[in-house]
Amino acid sequence: MSPETPADARRVLDRCDELAAVSSSATGVERVHLSPEHARANAIAADWMAQAGLRTWCDQAGNQWGRLEGREPGLPALVLGSHLDTVTDAGRYDGILGVLSAIEVARRLAPRAGELPFALELVAFSDEEGTRFSTALTGSSAVAGTWHEDWWERTDRDGVTVRQAAEAFGLDPSRIGEAAREPQDLVGYLELHIEQGPQLEAAGRALGVVASIAGARRFTGRVVGEARHAGGTPYPKRRDALVGAGEVVLAVERLAVELDGIATVGRLQAFPGGVNVVPGLVEFSLDVRAEHDADRDALVEAITAHARAACARRGLGLELTETHRAAGVYCDAELTASVVAGIAATGDHDPLRTWSRAGHDAMAIAAITPVAMVFVRCEDGISHAPTEAVTLPDVAAGIDALEAAVLDVAARRS
Ligand code: GLV
Ligand code: MN
Ligand code: MN
Repeated sequence: MSPETPADARRVLDRCDELAAVSSSATGVERVHLSPEHARANAIAADWMAQAGLRTWCDQAGNQWGRLEGREPGLPALVLGSHLDTVTDAGRYDGILGVLSAIEVARRLAPRAGELPFALELVAFSDEEGTRFSTALTGSSAVAGTWHEDWWERTDRDGVTVRQAAEAFGLDPSRIGEAAREPQDLVGYLELHIEQGPQLEAAGRALGVVASIAGARRFTGRVVGEARHAGGTPYPKRRDALVGAGEVVLAVERLAVELDGIATVGRLQAFPGGVNVVPGLVEFSLDVRAEHDADRDALVEAITAHARAACARRGLGLELTETHRAAGVYCDAELTASVVAGIAATGDHDPLRTWSRAGHDAMAIAAITPVAMVFVRCEDGISHAPTEAVTLPDVAAGIDALEAAVLDVAARRS
């Protein structure tokens, strides 16, 4: 551990606390894409990047960047980053820890950036979670040049489109293409992230290396029945959308376990929502993952077939609309070797390798440059919840490993 490590890690944790206060919710952390809180977090991160010696800019997708030139100006960049947006009622480390650790690494390396055979760039992605517009990885997809034009018309729960929100944020939708980066301008992308699962803790390891990242598919579902009087409607005449949706939810869990995948209904709402009305409509979300895309797709098929049959038996309609699909990606072997070398520099010479059940911006960036990831242990594997927690020594180890990984990439390229 470098003598400055505990102070760096303390600063990262203090800054995580500072950013947690940049929230649209008075009771928890919520910072969504293209919101005033997003602008504020970007400005704070830009200030910290500038203090670390970086030149900063915000791109047309709302991603905040910083750059240190290497041994000559204009070299391709090794990019370190993660995201600053959050889920609703979030923790304070998912994404944020990766951005702030990267700033510490840049701060350490700034005095000798002139020796690096690449530029070092930092990025704080704008929309990994998809909380506001139900479509994830849009900031990193814009950088990868895989922006979808139909995303502009996606709406938030108040009916505001991505286009309107982007304009209010000060972005110009006609210039989204300027956010895209060219493969020849990049060396690779390294992302540090909390594990968001319990494997590192169970193995007694502070850090782990990510072999691959599972790609999720997400859907909006509607079960359509008939709203009627809760007292007067005999059971043979009921077409209760909530009871049908209940069958769907139970099948989602059962099939995911049977087929060794992961599927979650995270949002469900019954309409019209009266205590004395048989629910006529249920809207719900569905998130499906597996280590391999083919297994995930098989699970989607099984859930769909079962849900259709269950709804048909009850005289209910079922509509499923896909809102997000990310292909799983394998991390790059050579860049991963640098992550392994980085973790070895912290004393763990045989780090735990795992596949990420959570999605990350690295998945989108893999379309244009090699990617690799380091995981940091989090308490009880908890994430996407206010109780997310990390320890100072683990964060210190993460910063050291990320710095050592960058230096290993530099050594391999010199
Ligand atoms: C991102 O946090 C995800 O849903 O995996
Ligand atoms: Mn997340
Ligand atoms: Mn994340």
